[in-house]
Amino acid sequence: MDKKVMSILALAAIPLLSIGCQDTTKSEASAKTSAGTNTPAEERILVAYFSCTGTTEQIAEWIAGQTGANLYHITPEIPYTAADRNYRDSSSRATVEQNTPSARPSISGSKEGMENYDILFLGYPIWWGQCPKIIYTFLESYDFSGKTIIPFCTSHSSGIGSSDTNLHSLCASSVRWIPGQRFSATTPKETVKEWINSLNIHKNTAQDIGVFNFDTKTVLLNSGHTMPIVGLGTYSLLDDVCVNSVSESLKAGGRLIDTAYMYHNEESVGQGIRVSGVPREEVFITTKLYMNQYDHAGEAIEQALQKLGVEYIDLMLLHHPGAHDVDAYKAMEKAVKDGKIHSIGLSNYYVEELEAFLPKITIMPAVVQNEIHPFYQENDVIPYIQGKGIVMEGWYPLGGRGHTAPLLQNEIISAIAQAHGKSSAQVILRWNLQKGVVVIPGSSNPAHIRENLDIFDFELTDEEMAKINGLDRNEKHDWY
Ligand SMILES: Cc1cc2nc3c(=O)[nH]c(=O)nc-3n(C[C@H](O)[C@H](O)[C@H](O)COP(=O)(O)O)c2cc1C
Repeated sequence: MDKKVMSILALAAIPLLSIGCQDTTKSEASAKTSAGTNTPAEERILVAYFSCTGTTEQIAEWIAGQTGANLYHITPEIPYTAADRNYRDSSSRATVEQNTPSARPSISGSKEGMENYDILFLGYPIWWGQCPKIIYTFLESYDFSGKTIIPFCTSHSSGIGSSDTNLHSLCASSVRWIPGQRFSATTPKETVKEWINSLNIHKNTAQDIGVFNFDTKTVLLNSGHTMPIVGLGTYSLLDDVCVNSVSESLKAGGRLIDTAYMYHNEESVGQGIRVSGVPREEVFITTKLYMNQYDHAGEAIEQALQKLGVEYIDLMLLHHPGAHDVDAYKAMEKAVKDGKIHSIGLSNYYVEELEAFLPKITIMPAVVQNEIHPFYQENDVIPYIQGKGIVMEGWYPLGGRGHTAPLLQNEIISAIAQAHGKSSAQVILRWNLQKGVVVIPGSSNPAHIRENLDIFDFELTDEEMAKINGLDRNEKHDWY
């Protein structure tokens, strides 16, 4: 087995609705027929749009042309006449609908095979600063769970404003929303093309998210960014020890460094990266906001960038649930929009905490990082998290400081290690990877740092995996 596929986004099936399909381009036959079918990414994209005077339609056609997507025109059952659209008339149909929160104008027909699409571009004109209510009807008519929605609008002069984020509550929380984009009647095709290219959507399909690639030693996150599946944890590494450890790891081929504000070593991590000579863009840096930063998270993100000495952070996590964590997450969402952070996620959030947290946020976490080792396996939590298209990462993979000996000396693990000619530590790390869990063992010992990265030349059998799975004793080694 070269590649292990872990749980990917579940694409919920909806009943096929067959009346009045509005497709205007490619045949449905080219779209994939099930979530698991291996068809090119461009066949899983749909551009759905509403347009009365053709401006949004033009942009929709350019997007479809650029991405190879299918087009679907959301057609009102009762067409909007010029009088209906008269925005100078406070009693015109459009004006009244926009002022009526419960208005849901009917759509003529429906889109067949919606379940076949992973990515939906959603286009609409701005009406009174907002999205026309017919789009609300559309979103409430289908199950978009696990899909990515990318809104775009056209207008005379208004920006997209809150017209896109106001749509989020109409869909399942597992929808991944990309910040919307505004165009106008004079937008050139080239601008649309540049926007499409900036989205990297071809890398970004549900098909690949969460797949551990054991050749490249990486996993594709739901943010569209790629993350190494093994790296260095830097908890308790300070000053020169930290600089040297980071540099050793990178020189040995490691490309993921995990730090946190609370580790008091972000400066040293940044220095270690520079000292290693490995270009910054080849390194994946994770850091975390601590609870005492949550009420001024925007400022704290700037501080992290400054301490690390980088222009962007690859992954930023909230370190723990706590007061103002939603506010802090929203600040991270803004930083994603501003290009200061590539991916965001959480640490020490379990099922209960996630159930409460996820409905309050916009960008689905890319990663959740929790304590995971053979004595504390989180077998109930991991499938829940992976089932949402979130990558699971484990801290304390070797049990954590003061707890490693019982794990490394465990008879079952030692016997498996001996059978493969590897160390117990390597077996435990490999066991994590084969469960789809990213590992960040911490060490300041250069030999151990190298050893911890050298886990790609052997594979545990199903029987060996089962034996280690049997060691779970729900034994947590830290308080959170
Ligand atoms: C009822 C109504 C309200 C509108 N409100 C706004 C607005 O608030 N801001 C704006 O810039 N344009 C507004 N417009 C202009 C449209 O957003 C713009 O013409 C759009 O590009 C039309 O898209 P379409 O040709 O795809 O229908 C409004 C148009 C209508 C009909």
